[in-house]
Amino acid sequence: MNSDDSFYISTPIFYVNDRPHIGHIYTATIADIVARRQRMIGREVFFLTGTDEHAAKVVDAASDRGLSTRAWADQNAGAFRKAFQDFGISNDDFIRTSEQRHIEFVEKVVSDLEATGDVYLGQYEGWYDVSQEEYVPESRAKEHDFCSPITRKPLVRRAEENYFFRLSEYSKPMLELLERNPDFVKPEARKNEVIGRIKEGLADVPISRTGGGDWGVRFPGNPKHMIYVWIDALLNYASAIDIDRRRHYWPATVHLIAKDILWFHAVIWPSLLMAISKARGNEWLSVPNTVYAHSFWISEGQKMSKSLGNFIDLEQLHGYKERFGLDALRFFFATQGPLDTMDGDFSRSRFIEVYNSDLANTVGNSWNRIVNMTRRYCAGRLNRKVDGEGLGAELERIASKKPQDSLGVGYVSHGVEMIKAIDGYIQETQPFKLAKDASNSSQVEEILYRCAESYRIASLYLWPALTEKMTEVWSRSGLFSYTEVLKNRGSGDLEQWTAWGGLSEGTELLEGPALFPRYLEE
Ligand code: MSP
Repeated sequence: MNSDDSFYISTPIFYVNDRPHIGHIYTATIADIVARRQRMIGREVFFLTGTDEHAAKVVDAASDRGLSTRAWADQNAGAFRKAFQDFGISNDDFIRTSEQRHIEFVEKVVSDLEATGDVYLGQYEGWYDVSQEEYVPESRAKEHDFCSPITRKPLVRRAEENYFFRLSEYSKPMLELLERNPDFVKPEARKNEVIGRIKEGLADVPISRTGGGDWGVRFPGNPKHMIYVWIDALLNYASAIDIDRRRHYWPATVHLIAKDILWFHAVIWPSLLMAISKARGNEWLSVPNTVYAHSFWISEGQKMSKSLGNFIDLEQLHGYKERFGLDALRFFFATQGPLDTMDGDFSRSRFIEVYNSDLANTVGNSWNRIVNMTRRYCAGRLNRKVDGEGLGAELERIASKKPQDSLGVGYVSHGVEMIKAIDGYIQETQPFKLAKDASNSSQVEEILYRCAESYRIASLYLWPALTEKMTEVWSRSGLFSYTEVLKNRGSGDLEQWTAWGGLSEGTELLEGPALFPRYLEE
């Protein structure tokens, strides 16, 4: 069991057959927002991402380009690493399955499992989905006209001598796990899908193959077999933690993934972990707390695909970043993305609409109003610190209503709601009218303190997504301590930070360029 104050979140490790696209950056950004919020709460966070390198499609993509697999994998792993830096991802490690630390771990696990009989040598014949690197059960293959249920590419018939993992032994423990831990698979609807499929029965799964070239991890003691890429890949979550100073992060708090790879994470992975625990006498590899599967982005109303060529690629994402700022992209991901069971449409017009209404007209404009009024009516300073009473019903209602989503991403929208309520409070109390009469000055000072202080609290909810602009707000209001704590991935005290009264009397609010200038389409 991990200690209460540690929090381990992972993204999938991504295939290096190509460069990153919106789907990869999206998952990494959501994981990043969760990780940042948890650091603010005071948890000791470990945030892992990386690349999955031993897939056949990596070999094929390299050879199409006349490159060695290693060279192509290196190039793309570098592209992922760089993209994550460019998009503000604060991962603590980046694991590549081609690294020695990982390969050794995989070999060790497979040997352990062979020793207990959870891995055995057998014969397999079935329908193989080359695009997904997995066998599809007979019934599912038939149901989808012998095409990939995910990519619709034709399945191929394959027969081979394989090592198998005895998944069939784990139906009962899996159903028990899902029963015992209602948060094991999220969202709820995905959990029901998983339970339904387990009840159809679990067959043993092949975990090695022969004749696929030499790119991969060899089966220990039988080098003509290569370990199946999915078994290799899933183990990244453990191999990265397998050093003394990281063991306390185990088990993973959340594996954040999308619906395409739910089965592997929700069924094969925990079964594998149960088998490993058995082999190793329950050493440290207990099952994760939660597997969270979000849905997919589609693009301008259509599924993104290689053949349609409508993937929102890195170049386009950089375009959005340059035009609107990184925060705007992260904000769109956080508030408009397919985090639940519905797919989300990424369209340029929607992006602009959300940018203008939530960021330019709300988050940016509200700050601007507060600063301008403070400068005009109070010489730039918050001269009167007041308690949180009298905020106005709406602001009080919003401030006390906390989002319930399990990842805490909803706090980003909550921050925006708070700011809308600040605008409502300004509208209601009309400090700009009151200020016309000098005898109202203390009332104006109180109103402006309440606005600035409510904004400060909202900024803390917004920061995990709007990291650059909220850091800017803090620096314009003399709040350097949050930045100081958070900049080295330190842990904060969000509960205390969001308590009323963080802005001290006499705080100066500095003017500066608009946080989110309104965007007018050329
Ligand atoms: N290598 C495997 C995962 C192994 S994890 C032990 C893999 N890689 S992948 O490169 O195909 O990445 C799949 C993941 O990318 C999805 O689960 C999701 O996180 C992200 N996305 C890919 N396309 C996506 C969308 N269109 N929309 C949102 N996220 C998507 O599968």
